[in-house]
Amino acid sequence: MQVTIDLTGEKFMSADLKILSAYQKPTPSKTKDAKSATSVSVEHWSDKGLKEEFSGLRSLKNYKAGKDETLSFSGATGENVIVVGLGEKGKMSAEDLRKTIARVFKATKGKYQTIAFDVPAFNTVRDEVLTSALISEAIHMSDYSFEVYKSKKSEAPEQTVILAHMEKKNAVKIEKALSSVKNITQSINLVKDFINEAPNVLHSEEYARRIEADVKKNLKGVKMKILNKAQIQKEKMNLLLSVNAGSAYEPRVVHLTYEPARSTSKTKHIALVGKGITFDTGGYCIKPGTSMAGMKFDMGGSATVYGAFRAAVLEKSPVKITCILAITDNAINSLATFPDAIVTGRNGKTVEILNTDAEGRLILADALDYACDQNPHYIVDAATLTGACLVALGNQVCAILGNDQKWINEILGSAKAQDEYMWQLPIINEWRQDIKSKVADLRNIGTPMRAGTAIGAAFLEEFVKNDVKWAHLDVAGVVDSQSHLPYCAQQGASGLIVRTLTHLLMNAK
Ligand code: BES
Ligand code: MN
Ligand code: ZN
Repeated sequence: MQVTIDLTGEKFMSADLKILSAYQKPTPSKTKDAKSATSVSVEHWSDKGLKEEFSGLRSLKNYKAGKDETLSFSGATGENVIVVGLGEKGKMSAEDLRKTIARVFKATKGKYQTIAFDVPAFNTVRDEVLTSALISEAIHMSDYSFEVYKSKKSEAPEQTVILAHMEKKNAVKIEKALSSVKNITQSINLVKDFINEAPNVLHSEEYARRIEADVKKNLKGVKMKILNKAQIQKEKMNLLLSVNAGSAYEPRVVHLTYEPARSTSKTKHIALVGKGITFDTGGYCIKPGTSMAGMKFDMGGSATVYGAFRAAVLEKSPVKITCILAITDNAINSLATFPDAIVTGRNGKTVEILNTDAEGRLILADALDYACDQNPHYIVDAATLTGACLVALGNQVCAILGNDQKWINEILGSAKAQDEYMWQLPIINEWRQDIKSKVADLRNIGTPMRAGTAIGAAFLEEFVKNDVKWAHLDVAGVVDSQSHLPYCAQQGASGLIVRTLTHLLMNAK
């Protein structure tokens, strides 16, 4: 998908499909003459000819320009025109716009070679640069399908999107915004590819190889270290190894470092840590079949932080970024870890593994300790850690917990700026007590059916050292299907939270 800008409107003229908007005029008072003009306003259109054609339409009679109510007609040169209702003026947010654009784009996908938007017609946020970026973002996010294993691929032709009629003085800013959007949405779509890939293909070794290949190809200047099993043993990451014990594949720890060009002693250093369980069977505490299907997405946290890292590097973030991904599957064979096993983590704490299905916190424990040794000021981890998160917040809201309210607030601010749902849950001392073991320092589960998401976070907190400010994102709900969001696929990986984390990395205070 190519998105080009067209200030003069020349390309708009010859596009196969033109997309504009209409507003609802406030309802006229009853005393007024009933014949008084239409209740639909298109005064903001830049194209006078189209305006005339529109006002002469017979189908206009029943058109009210309600939110997402569309009216199509064919223009003077046989081109197609779609008018999108935006409801009453001044009532559309950035997120409304993303959704509206995604809906129109999906409805017309593959039917036209060139699609032109009259940008001023969609400038509901009163910022042409932002509007251009939002249109492009919604289109790039919507322009995704996972078809690797379909014998018959959809044969949509290559399309060009034209953003037309913006002011000349905004041209440079718009070009820059569109290039950022491209970097970010390309990273989002790669995250979706990773998550959607089948677990028999994307096992730990292959996943690390694909990340390695992407870094080499696209992220020049990033330092990369991929730890194999022997190196992970040397690092004493025994909790990660205990999860990997039943696997046919080696575990991997991906360690990436990016430094901004102008790095000083004051440069902020943020570490991203991700859970990369390429498939979660539950281990000996095996999941019932119906809960197990879908567990290929259990590497979603690692894919999400990698996507944000990637976007931030491409966008030349001002902060130093370390990215640590702990990767293995959670499988069963005769070597797999038994429930009741006691294992010493990298930080020396002993853990009684009472439930092998609470494996995410085990691999993250060692990854967090390793991340702290890189001396970051801040850590944010992302993990599909608990089913309890879906019970608490549904599948639409990402949970955030941590040890530093300012850091949490900063992340919540980024989520808000990007219109991604995120809500904080507490970690209280009673729950910190709940993970103490009778026979070891810690146990990997708390009281069944009680505050599961926070218990998981309380466990992770035990592995954050050196006073590093840390936040944990439980993305168990949000990385998978988001059928309520038109810019996400109806089924499969959502790619959400990459935008929040990228915003965080680009704007860290
Ligand atoms: N990957 C799962 C969490 C999960 C479950 C995410 C369902 C999305 C949907 C995680 O490894 C897990 O199995 N967690 C257990 C923890 C429990 C044993 C304390 C869970 O949530 O049941
Ligand atoms: Mn599990
Ligand atoms: Zn899991």
